[in-house]
Amino acid sequence: MNKKKLAVLFGGQSSEHIVSCMSAANVIDQIDTERYELILIGITEEGHWVKAESVGDIRSGAWYNSPIEAALIPDATRRCVILTENGITWEEKIDVVFPVLHGPFGEDGTVQGLLELARLPYVGCGVLASAVSMDKLYTKIIVNDLGIRQAAYVPVMSWKMKKDMDSIVRRIEDRFSYPVFVKPSNAGSSRGVSKAENREELIAGLLEAAHHDRKILVEEMIVGHEVECAVLGGGQKPVQSSGVGEIRAAAEFYDFEAKYYNEDSRTDTNPTLPGDSAQRVRKAAEKIFNAVDGYGLARVDFFVTEDGEVVFNEINTLPGFTAISMYPMLWEAAGIPKKELIDQLITLAFER
Ligand SMILES: Nc1ncnc2c1ncn2[C@@H]1O[C@H](COP(=O)(O)OP(=O)(O)OP(=O)(O)O)[C@@H](O)[C@H]1O
Ligand SMILES: [Mg+2]
Repeated sequence: MNKKKLAVLFGGQSSEHIVSCMSAANVIDQIDTERYELILIGITEEGHWVKAESVGDIRSGAWYNSPIEAALIPDATRRCVILTENGITWEEKIDVVFPVLHGPFGEDGTVQGLLELARLPYVGCGVLASAVSMDKLYTKIIVNDLGIRQAAYVPVMSWKMKKDMDSIVRRIEDRFSYPVFVKPSNAGSSRGVSKAENREELIAGLLEAAHHDRKILVEEMIVGHEVECAVLGGGQKPVQSSGVGEIRAAAEFYDFEAKYYNEDSRTDTNPTLPGDSAQRVRKAAEKIFNAVDGYGLARVDFFVTEDGEVVFNEINTLPGFTAISMYPMLWEAAGIPKKELIDQLITLAFER
């Protein structure tokens, strides 16, 4: 059988760079190398593209010293990556791309736009779904129309903070009582997200969030189970949702440390939730996936309150694939092993 050439993109210029490297290593381990020949392309935090030799080099970080530069070009007549080493240049054809990139400059439609120009099939959501889902403010605007509850919010533009912090704080305090959640509209892995218990923390949280994006959201706090639902499909394949998993953060909330480094954080793929809320979470996840024009995959996150109300939090179009990530675990619990899941995702890329 003629092997297809699959390019895996990893790393990237976002604050989730390191998470992407962990995800990519796990994805690569599950790719059927009988069917696909791999080319591994790492993007440094500065945005430099290089070819990595092996998954071991991704795990160890050796790929940062790779002597081979890799340029994926938008030329649709060539569909290739141009490689350069010691002044010698050659090209390698590509059949399909798996962008295992999280956060801005990867999960937000930018890389997807490049792949559209190159007319290369790629795994996951297209430009629109990626962009809208990465931007929490725009996701809110779309979900507002679906009759699904989400946390009430006040948008804040960072450029107004310098001269008008007082009136911003007043606007928030008129609307909500503390605690509130402050988050950059575009970020991920809880980077720049904080919980503010008082005015001082609110101002500090706004200034911190402003490092990540010029659009910031301040939200009412939702108390309840933090749950996630995996979605798979699109096009000819009907969209299906997995069971609902629960996150039990070991910290005050599910911040970056709690997510990736605190071993006491727990995930449960078969939690006990009030009434038929799990079923309603699944329905809402599919509805939101379709509303943002999702394709391929996404993980849709919610809260379920003690009285069983389902509250949407956010949608991730390139959810984590680390060893502790919910997306692959939920499918595994639903009877789709990781290898088969990756295979389905690549097949969906070709079908688009
Ligand atoms: N309105 C809210 N009420 C209660 N907790 C919240 C609220 N918003 C966020 N959180 C907590 O903060 C965490 C991070 O927030 P959120 O999921 O919105 O950010 P993120 O950076 O996009 O994370 P992800 O990696 O899932 O993309 C959540 O997992 C949850 O624990
Ligand atoms: Mg989240």
